[in-house]
Amino acid sequence: MSKPALVWDLPLRVFHWLFAGTVIASWYTSDQDHDLIELHIQLGYFALGLIIFRLLWGVVGTKHARFISFVPKPKQLHHYIKNLKQNRAPASIGHNPLGSLMVILMIMLISLQAISGLFINDDIYSSGPYNAIVTKDIEQVMAFLHHHVFDYMIGAIALHLLAIFYYVRIKKETLIVPMITGRKPAKHINDSDVIKHSKLWLAAFIIIMVTVFVYWLVVLNVPIVEEYY
Ligand code: HEM
Ligand code: HEM
Repeated sequence: MSKPALVWDLPLRVFHWLFAGTVIASWYTSDQDHDLIELHIQLGYFALGLIIFRLLWGVVGTKHARFISFVPKPKQLHHYIKNLKQNRAPASIGHNPLGSLMVILMIMLISLQAISGLFINDDIYSSGPYNAIVTKDIEQVMAFLHHHVFDYMIGAIALHLLAIFYYVRIKKETLIVPMITGRKPAKHINDSDVIKHSKLWLAAFIIIMVTVFVYWLVVLNVPIVEEYY
């Protein structure tokens, strides 16, 4: 039997599990009763870094990590849904067209959540680093987003997990193990769809650039506001 084929590179897999963990930890630490809001803010910065990494990896990463390889055209989506309803949808090598929409939605929702966090203020003692330079109106819009977008994210995560359950249990597709090992059974995978390696040097370079950028954004570039009493 041939060795399972590599389809998900290591940086993408690490991104996935860190992203899932960070989102859950951000949610847990956001509860004022836990008194962990400073940690919440640090996790938010980390989430921001993860998202920027994923956006760049979606352009220069390996084949199935690239947006161009999985963002579906409306026709493909329609075709896929029709086949899915008739139980004829073929197993996908990367994300399937419906799963791709979910990936994009989750990344967009957490982007909104992390960006809005930069501008808000909890009216006690914690505020995002750019809170002081925005008008009250903008602050209110950001607070509205920060308090409500996560409700949609909870829905998206629930759908994500239900979909995985459906594919694994009903359609008998192997999805979870590949998100850990990177490998899927090689039977129906062409050579051109197998990735040769995880582009680790490129990933390391991007991680350093993103870390420097986020540090600049949330530490070095933060406006100093003088307070008068
Ligand atoms: C807060 C929790 C989670 C979030 C926010 C999340 C988010 C995501 C995202 C953004 C992707 C796309 C990966 C990429 O292309 O970069 C993804 C894919 C995936 N996730 Fe999660 N995830 C979560 C929890 C889980 C859990 C608990 C499991 C396993 C039971 C799981 C299994 C998978 C699998 C198998 C894929 C690949 C799906 C495919 O083959 O198309 N996720 N997830
Ligand atoms: C992964 C990213 C993030 C997630 C998932 C997240 C999630 C949340 C949630 C669910 C709440 C509770 C909202 C409510 O009580 O209705 C909250 C509150 C809060 N978040 Fe975030 N957040 C993130 C990033 C950030 C960032 C980057 C900052 C600041 C730089 C931040 C600062 C705050 C503050 C100060 C509060 C308390 C606000 C208040 O009670 O008015 N968050 N966050």
